[in-house]
Amino acid sequence: MTDNTYVGAVDQGTTGTRFIVFDHSGQIVANAYEKHEQIYPEPGWVEHDPREIWENTRDVTNQALSDAGITADQLEAIGVTNQRETTLLWDADTGRPLHNALVWQDRRTTDRIETLQEEDKADDVQAKTGLEPDAYFSATKAEWLLDNADPIKTQRARPADVRERAAEGDVLFGTIDTWVIYNLTGNHITDVTNASRTMLFNIHEMDWDDELCEEFRVPREMLPEVRPSSDEETYGSTDADGFLGTEVPVAGALGDQQAALFGQTCFEAGDAKNTYGTGSFFLMNTGDEAVTSEHGLLTTVGFQRSGDPVQYALEGSIFITGAAIEWLEDMQLIEDAAETEELARSVDSTDGVYFVPAFTGLGAPHWDQRARGTIVGMTRGTRREHIVRATLESIAYQTRDVAEAMEADSGIDMQTLRVDGGAVKNNYLCQLQSDIIDTDIARPEVDETTALGSAYAAGLAVGYWSDLDELTANWQIDREFEPEMSNEEANKLYSRWSDAVDRSRDWARD
Ligand code: G3P
Repeated sequence: MTDNTYVGAVDQGTTGTRFIVFDHSGQIVANAYEKHEQIYPEPGWVEHDPREIWENTRDVTNQALSDAGITADQLEAIGVTNQRETTLLWDADTGRPLHNALVWQDRRTTDRIETLQEEDKADDVQAKTGLEPDAYFSATKAEWLLDNADPIKTQRARPADVRERAAEGDVLFGTIDTWVIYNLTGNHITDVTNASRTMLFNIHEMDWDDELCEEFRVPREMLPEVRPSSDEETYGSTDADGFLGTEVPVAGALGDQQAALFGQTCFEAGDAKNTYGTGSFFLMNTGDEAVTSEHGLLTTVGFQRSGDPVQYALEGSIFITGAAIEWLEDMQLIEDAAETEELARSVDSTDGVYFVPAFTGLGAPHWDQRARGTIVGMTRGTRREHIVRATLESIAYQTRDVAEAMEADSGIDMQTLRVDGGAVKNNYLCQLQSDIIDTDIARPEVDETTALGSAYAAGLAVGYWSDLDELTANWQIDREFEPEMSNEEANKLYSRWSDAVDRSRDWARD
């Protein structure tokens, strides 16, 4: 069964879409990628065109298969992983989106969250969802879309009101996993990990929450069916008359950060990973206990296999890390991310410069929606090398903020942190990270762990892989980094970081 057959993964991320084909040993056989447009209609607003996302999904799937000379009927299953929280609505009859998707980074509902806080409702929301109320999550985005999506675009005369139509099941809500699964299979489904990021889902009862639906005026009828992340029943199959020309079961889905946790085979309580993408997302498996954070972390669903109990995780969501390097490119301080390593090494220090890349506010553990990007400590002698180095340091410091909260909440003294994502190719960053958090850093051979995690979830569901031990055996280390800096030096650097964070806070006012 496994000789000539594979599992495919759609990895729909914030900046682009990837399709990867994996073989039985978890190695990459084919990989295609396409970027999509970032739409910024107003400062702080970020949108994606869902149609472009679906077209790109089809294109990269076809591209990867044809590059590797693989036919779709050699795929035993497809898994889906995705940028989380990003929210859209579409017409149930035509499949047409009613508006661009509101991206997780979008800040337009900041005021709404503040109202919730002023009304003392934040603790209730947190108790049910495990989330620190923030414009980051889907609930307020769905509310905004229901209020603002243009009813004329639905091409239906009656009833024109989008919320009314949603209550009749004519308008559907989805995060990006749901959108991709819907287009692949025709079914309206999400998985437990993506549901846990909506702020409409009770992670203890594992169901949509009526009170939250009422609070955010989201009709329950428009919400997708919630399924395990690895589902033996499968979410459905691709259409034999569709773009793949054959029926392939779609059997796994995880939000991208949970997928990376799964791909890094963090199956035991205490196992942790940090993914360095647009932002960084540090997750620690806490087993079947939903640990409530007292230090600014999120409690979230880690994964669920059909028939098994839900596995929870603690998460530190850092909004901007890799995107700060992209910003250096945008500002023409560098031409390419690969340059940062050499530039940072070319100076001994940042010369006192600290860069807090709070472009979209601060996530864990600070949670300040109105913080903004800040550079402090510049002198007339500050050069681009210092700014580049300060950017890499900001990634390591933000991770330490979260690592300290993680150890305080879990009581676990972390021995090794598994890392993945684009930025971990940078050896300087990995070493610095190890120094700043005083923990070993393990970089795996297959660094596309997000796609791998969703392939594993889908492959397990259809029996391509038999159990978790088989997956654990696939995990191979590429390089390990051990702390080299003295604690004294690391603490000295880090102590000024906290001062810089304070300067960035509460900056954006209406
Ligand atoms: O929560 C947002 C996260 O899922 C985005 O991940 O890798 O697309 O930046 P990424």
